[in-house]
Amino acid sequence: MDERQHHAIATWERRWLAISGLMSLSFVILIAYSLVTEGTAIAQSGGRAEPATLTSSALFADPGVRTMGPNEYQVTVVAQAFAFQPETVVLPVGAKAHFYMTSRDVIHGYGVEDTYINIEVIPGEIASFEYTFDRPGTYRVSCNEYCGISHQNMLGAIEVLPVAEYSRRVGAAAQTAPAPSGQAAGAVSGETVFTTNCASCHQANGQGIAGAFPPLAGHAPELFRADRSYPVKVLLHGLQGEIRVAGTVYNGQMPAWNSLSDEQLAAVANYVMNAWGNDAAMPADAAPYTPDDFAAARGEAMTPDEVHALRGTLGLP
Ligand code: CUA
Repeated sequence: MDERQHHAIATWERRWLAISGLMSLSFVILIAYSLVTEGTAIAQSGGRAEPATLTSSALFADPGVRTMGPNEYQVTVVAQAFAFQPETVVLPVGAKAHFYMTSRDVIHGYGVEDTYINIEVIPGEIASFEYTFDRPGTYRVSCNEYCGISHQNMLGAIEVLPVAEYSRRVGAAAQTAPAPSGQAAGAVSGETVFTTNCASCHQANGQGIAGAFPPLAGHAPELFRADRSYPVKVLLHGLQGEIRVAGTVYNGQMPAWNSLSDEQLAAVANYVMNAWGNDAAMPADAAPYTPDDFAAARGEAMTPDEVHALRGTLGLP
């Protein structure tokens, strides 16, 4: 090519270089602008947390909100397919909240709308960060790491209340809370426990999802009749292995729900045994579950595989 043509190409090269340089610069300016106006933080590693021993860990045995000092709170959250525990975190506005999170099974996300909170929750790791909500309201939380077939149902919320309303709510809860175990689970709604923790897999109508999550409608009373204590063990210790329900094979994992209280477990077990027409298939003299049933079985060390083996010995496919 002759000299002039060569020059023309170089001119256009310089222009394109200038355009891409300007684009990069504007991206950097936009990022800097959003960091300044929206704030930022990087979650710190808060140490290790073995998924298998979460229930005996000081931090995660009873996840939720604890008072640390004046206007300062500790929030612990456990993620597991497909729910956050607690599902809803309630905080007063303007409080300094120290969050600690871990996962019981696979990687989940904890994304809070209208904030920069977007945490990767990794099994075995504790993610920690601080945040102060300056505006009352309900902030939706969603899992933003694909974690399985019901990932899209893994939702939670952070409810930020005006200070007066918060103390009213927490004061009222403190007065009604500690129902001594051994009494009827009247205060806890089994349906609420089910909707919060179980419905994302077993579905609100108890039908499950064929091939993925077994139905409880029609099936739960079979378990009860085989051995009344068997569903207690499934709820507390989980279940892993291939099972068959109404001819369909399931090979998923039922998580251990031992982070729920004895009262909540008894309430949800009674709900499941009687909802969706299951009551008709229950023995007439069936004794309802009590929190004591769960308190007694909580101590036994069983793995989800051992629960599966037990299922086999009961003659259940
Ligand atoms: Cu948990 Cu997606």
